[in-house]
Amino acid sequence: MPFSDVVIIGSGIAALSAAKEICEHKNVIIITKKSVRDSNSMLAQGGIAAVIDRQDHWNEHFRDTVVAGCFHNKEDAVKELVVEGTKSIQKLIDEDMCFDKGETGALDLGREGAHSRNRILHAGGDATGRLLVEFMLDQLQGKVTFVEQEMAVDLIVEQGQCIGVLTVDDAGMTKVYASGSVILATGGCGGLFEVSSNVEGINGDGFSMAYRAGAQLADLEFIQFHPTMLCTEQGDKGLISEAVRGEGAVLVNDQGNRFMKGIHELEDLAPRDIVSRAIQNERLQGRAVFLDISMISRFKERFPTITSLCCEAGIRVEDGFIPVSPGAHFIMGGIKTNLVGETTLPGLYAVGEVAYTGVHGANRLASNSLLEGIVFGQKLGSYILSQENSILPFSLKLTKKRLKMEFALPSKQEVQKVMTMYAGIERNHEGLTQARDWLQGFIRPEWFSGPLQEGTKDDMIMINMLTTSWLIITSALMRTESRGGHFRNDYPMTLDKWRNKEIIRQNNRVST
Ligand code: SIN
Repeated sequence: MPFSDVVIIGSGIAALSAAKEICEHKNVIIITKKSVRDSNSMLAQGGIAAVIDRQDHWNEHFRDTVVAGCFHNKEDAVKELVVEGTKSIQKLIDEDMCFDKGETGALDLGREGAHSRNRILHAGGDATGRLLVEFMLDQLQGKVTFVEQEMAVDLIVEQGQCIGVLTVDDAGMTKVYASGSVILATGGCGGLFEVSSNVEGINGDGFSMAYRAGAQLADLEFIQFHPTMLCTEQGDKGLISEAVRGEGAVLVNDQGNRFMKGIHELEDLAPRDIVSRAIQNERLQGRAVFLDISMISRFKERFPTITSLCCEAGIRVEDGFIPVSPGAHFIMGGIKTNLVGETTLPGLYAVGEVAYTGVHGANRLASNSLLEGIVFGQKLGSYILSQENSILPFSLKLTKKRLKMEFALPSKQEVQKVMTMYAGIERNHEGLTQARDWLQGFIRPEWFSGPLQEGTKDDMIMINMLTTSWLIITSALMRTESRGGHFRNDYPMTLDKWRNKEIIRQNNRVST
């Protein structure tokens, strides 16, 4: 049985950042169900928001984060993010991370939605996440063990403590990893929806595993839809960064109208929930929506990744218009942690998108996600270094019996259709109830009574998709107001009584 001081599930920027902090002093295994480079962090285009400009101040970044988050953010978490963010980014600059510079040699700071000033660092034009991941992988070379193509299936909990993780590989072989500390850094759940900016396979595994293990989760109803996915008749073809609007692009419908005018004072750079709803509204009225990029000089040099995405999809950026539509992008809720990543289950930690520190409130500010991964990854790493978590023996016996599915499970496409229709950009009681009842027809009580040791990898993925979908739907039913990434057309108002009130999920109980 493999064992290590620390096991990290997931390989995005939060995982790498925690590993970087720990790996000189403790042994670390990073397990990922695909390859190390299959993460949402790799796809992040726009950049990292941080207070680097002398004219900027942390309290402005703080205010923008809280306004975008609809005042539902935990303020201590936001302060930690923006203040520590500056130090963490300065450290990366000192280590020679290749952030883009302008003609004067100063850092080229871009703009994105709901930011009151230019503060977005980027690299390779629009390849920020990829270059940052490569930079950190170089730093971790030879210091961490990477296990690829192995899916974490369940957390092993004995006597109220998380002491390891059970995995299954592509050939169906199960394995147990014993560890003093288990970190979930599995990202979010964009794959639960038909259109998503997420890398294939991000289906909410971490939420479902943590819930089965008895950890507390919160605010899962808040889902961010990115306004501008590249969408052609053949489907969605990737993300068009908000940085494109930051450089001056505007949204127009097929009649040439700039429909964001009059909807919000920031117009095309309004918070994402507002822009996504406006685009959806245009589309529901039968009008296609485009990004007019004709005013951006040297588009190809500034946005090489987007240029090649468009080219592969048969869209010529020289023509000046990119067809767009919203797609699921980020979940603001997650596994509840404190500011050093401890969950409510001893031995289990969470970081990055899968974690809920309360930093994003009801709607994440653009380019705060890589920053979250870096800052809270570092904090978690140094906290774990300060702890004496020993590897404990455990009594779990691996069984070889297959899970007998008495009922056929639905297909991924069926789940995505239900989630898009009923838990998408707009929700209401009727739709959410219908979705809940449909999901409950598949969910079995035995999924929640001990580690899932049997069944194929595909069965495990579907169990996770159904469980996470059910948690989202039933949380959304409870919040009878609209705020940020949770819009109920039967409760369209934002209500003071719901501000800072979390919807907590644990052991089949819901509380606020
Ligand atoms: C974007 O570049 O628009 C996405 C980045 C983010 O979600 O922060």
